[in-house]
Amino acid sequence: MSGPVAAADVIEAIHDDRLVALLEAKLDDGGDDHRLRVADHITRSIAAVAARHADAVDAVLRDADIDGVLDPLPERQQRPVVSVRVTPDDLDTTRKALSAAGYAPLHQLSPGAWASYRRVHGETRFTSPSDDGAQVQVIWGDDRDPPRSPLHAMSRPGFDQWTGTDLPAWAWPGYVAVRMRDVVRHRIMGRPRSPAVGPHLPTPGDLVEPVLTWAGIGEGDVLLDAGCGDGRVLVEAARTIGCRGIGIEIDPALAELAVERARRAGVERLVTVVAGDIEHVPAPDTTAAFLFLPSGLIGAAINQLDRALPKGATIVAHEQSPLPDRPAAEDVAPVYGSSSLTVAHRWTVGGPR
Ligand SMILES: C[S@@+](CC[C@H](N)C(=O)[O-])C[C@H]1O[C@@H](n2cnc3c(N)ncnc32)[C@H](O)[C@@H]1O
Repeated sequence: MSGPVAAADVIEAIHDDRLVALLEAKLDDGGDDHRLRVADHITRSIAAVAARHADAVDAVLRDADIDGVLDPLPERQQRPVVSVRVTPDDLDTTRKALSAAGYAPLHQLSPGAWASYRRVHGETRFTSPSDDGAQVQVIWGDDRDPPRSPLHAMSRPGFDQWTGTDLPAWAWPGYVAVRMRDVVRHRIMGRPRSPAVGPHLPTPGDLVEPVLTWAGIGEGDVLLDAGCGDGRVLVEAARTIGCRGIGIEIDPALAELAVERARRAGVERLVTVVAGDIEHVPAPDTTAAFLFLPSGLIGAAINQLDRALPKGATIVAHEQSPLPDRPAAEDVAPVYGSSSLTVAHRWTVGGPR
């Protein structure tokens, strides 16, 4: 029988997307420490969430007469993901049917950008209509046009271009010229022309209170959600912890949703939302900040908050994927909700680096 599992081993397994493999190896080996039992329980709850979505997606496909095939679901999952395979001919009907059932595309693409994206890739994702963090992956083929050379990979659109540029379908093949100009400009001027925004992937509702409590955030704090999406973190924090919240969101439609969510939850006196860029943080009385951003954006965001927030404020970020090493977090831990898990990181503004 193997010895106890250290928190660092669990974090490394989550980062490498092999928590389930670690559990299988250790549990088969007779391991039975507290950490393993908790992780085992949560990964089974996550698989149960995915199973509920698999039933819902199956019903959506049947109602729309789509011949999709759902991948079998494992007993344990690190993230609740349901994969469904459809033919390219059924793809647009599948997207419409899922959207009508409340699943939202992870990336907002205009019709022209979608036509370009679907020529290149073979899968796309939708997020759950509830706040359980589930995703539905729709697959219609392998990578349809894998890059043929580094130059080809560099020159064709990526998500920042597909989501940030509104072109008709016929114009996308010509976008290669603009892309190359942007790459050269980025290399010379050191920063991209337009900021990368990333997808709107919400934090599962059951993780909000555990992550904030782990970071020591309480009722007396003023919490900034930098990139607040539809405001669910601030609303949940106001409801469960009772703290005031300020949300900054670059997408005005999401900022409006956040205002509406706070109003519907009856916490509009606690939650303020600003439509704008986190580069301009208007929050001198902020005592804590929350971040859930793609790993490519988070290092710059933490440095930005470190300059903008008062000394001693807490910054907490969570993400299953590894975050950049710099700035180095003071504390890192796996954090569990009732049916979700993440890795949380904590910094103190003006603290040791
Ligand atoms: C992964 S979502 C997280 C939303 C929310 N914080 C949560 O945890 O549920 C990241 C959000 O940050 C927003 N965002 C990205 N870059 C931003 C920026 N520079 N300024 C403000 N918001 C930004 C995106 O539009 C998106 O809604």
